[in-house]
Amino acid sequence: MCGIVAYIGHRQAYPILIKGLKRLEYRGYDSAGVALLHNGLNIYKCKGKVADLENNAKGKDVAGSLGMGHTRWATHGEPNDINSHPHLSESGEIAIIHNGIIENYATLKEELSKRGHHFISDTDTEVLVHLIEDIKENAHVSLEEAVRLALHEVIGAYAIVIISKNDPTKLIGARKGSPLVVGIGEGEFFMASDATPIIEYTRNVTYLKDGEIAFIKDGKLSIKTTENVEQIPYIQTLEMNLEAIEKGGYTHFMLKEIHEQPRSIYDSLRGRFDPITGMFAMRSLKEYEGKIKNLKRIVIVGCGTSWHAGLVGEYLFEDIARIPVEVEYASEFRYRNPVIGPDDLVIAISQSGETADTLAAIQLAKEKGATILGLCNVVGSSIPRASDAGAYTHAGPEIGVASTKAFTAQVAVLTLWAFGFAEIRGTATKQDLRDAFAELESIPAKVERTLLCEDQVIEIAKVFKDVTNALYLGRGYGFPVALEGALKLKEISYIHAEGYPAAEMKHGPIALIDEEMPVVVIATKSSIYEKVISNIQEVKARKGTIIAIVTEGDNKVRNMADYVIEIPETKEYLEPLIATIPLQLLSYHIAVMRGCNVDQPRNLAKSVTVE
Ligand code: G6P
Repeated sequence: MCGIVAYIGHRQAYPILIKGLKRLEYRGYDSAGVALLHNGLNIYKCKGKVADLENNAKGKDVAGSLGMGHTRWATHGEPNDINSHPHLSESGEIAIIHNGIIENYATLKEELSKRGHHFISDTDTEVLVHLIEDIKENAHVSLEEAVRLALHEVIGAYAIVIISKNDPTKLIGARKGSPLVVGIGEGEFFMASDATPIIEYTRNVTYLKDGEIAFIKDGKLSIKTTENVEQIPYIQTLEMNLEAIEKGGYTHFMLKEIHEQPRSIYDSLRGRFDPITGMFAMRSLKEYEGKIKNLKRIVIVGCGTSWHAGLVGEYLFEDIARIPVEVEYASEFRYRNPVIGPDDLVIAISQSGETADTLAAIQLAKEKGATILGLCNVVGSSIPRASDAGAYTHAGPEIGVASTKAFTAQVAVLTLWAFGFAEIRGTATKQDLRDAFAELESIPAKVERTLLCEDQVIEIAKVFKDVTNALYLGRGYGFPVALEGALKLKEISYIHAEGYPAAEMKHGPIALIDEEMPVVVIATKSSIYEKVISNIQEVKARKGTIIAIVTEGDNKVRNMADYVIEIPETKEYLEPLIATIPLQLLSYHIAVMRGCNVDQPRNLAKSVTVE
């Protein structure tokens, strides 16, 4: 969380920083700030969004071709003007922006205070910049060396950028645990948390690895490790296009991303199977065939929506490949001494590829000898690099904080993997694969058709926009869908919503049901359709209001439910790809009607790089 962007070159830095910060705002939006070098160090920062920062800086000196900007998701210290980044060293010479957490900041702060340092903010970041200056002054070393030495004393995660009032030719960045990418243009350089602020100017980038420091000095880039070992930058050319990170005529990124799903699912499947021959073609898994064949267990780790995709994965792998699966919250897995070893395969799912808990879970599983498959959306991010193998979901940049198209893309790839594993283990025949792949091919068109329910969903949203609670029920493949539907509603509309296995309702949530409580039920024609119908009856008997997601042509549920939304028929294991769509739309429209900021819901951030 927190977005950082910096520029050094021949252009004016301010417009680049502001534009970049707006693209990074999904990472946090508690406060924003910039530092620009022009007749000294000019710092403007305030609580609120980047637009507030622009107002704050209006009419002030924003010139300078060296600068850096920050958008914050608060960890240490409440979101206010003072705690906003950039932060300054004791003398005011060095400025820093930071994404991450310095865990030992309290000890460092105490020591520095004893040595006469005064701190203005409550942040851990300010401590780091004071430490850098302290080392520079007392050890009589260059700024570069002081940064390197200071990082040795720091425990925690960081991506930082540093500039000095006394040196307009220098920009320093470093990373450990939080992402930092360096853009290399013609006589100009960029640094940012992801590539979106950079691609407008250059496609040549290098992603810093953990423990690396990038120094830009006199128009040259050099990279060293914190152990002082020179590195040769691996420069790659990005393929991302600008259009993908713009709203493209939609009111919100979230709505655009919901509507992009026919395409993002198609792109995530494209070239990975052949429905005619039944061939599964994900080369990255080829070298693990032996392992897959003899696998005793799969453990899936993830957070938030990615964890929900993992739950769908559990049903898929157990159903199709007959492998026992456990799905774990990465944050729990990492701290509970899990029983895991070389016979296990861990699948780590993450849109951003940067979620700190998921990354730590991978590291733990690796130490215990497990093989790691990463399933991520952001190319070049940390999780794919920490994994042994894996695949990208080709969903394109997801900017809305609430995940939508990344979820369906993850489920699409997990479905392919389940069939790929099934083939290797002999639990699916070539004909099974041909049938499955043929149906998979039809999913983008079915999602397109499902999106046509939007007008109907808007009418339902009008009825329920003022409720305070909602219950989402599903069974089998419908259960993770219910969880995801409830999460979407609470994230963006702030209505309390719970997802439950439909049959579990009678062990608690049923007590909540009355005329005021909408109950959304996934009631498609699955193998447990009749059982779900019984659960609907139980709700109706308590005067609950039912909004049912049903298969096209269904009449049985229609006669019981208060509202029905039809979705095209598909194989049961593919239903999450379709049934999720109306729930995403319902949350979106309810949130818009309640006047919520759907793309940037309060207190949330898209990329959670702190634990
Ligand atoms: C945050 C986001 C969620 C996301 C979760 C996991 O909470 O707001 O939308 O599902 O992080 O993120 P990841 O990038 O690992 O999928």
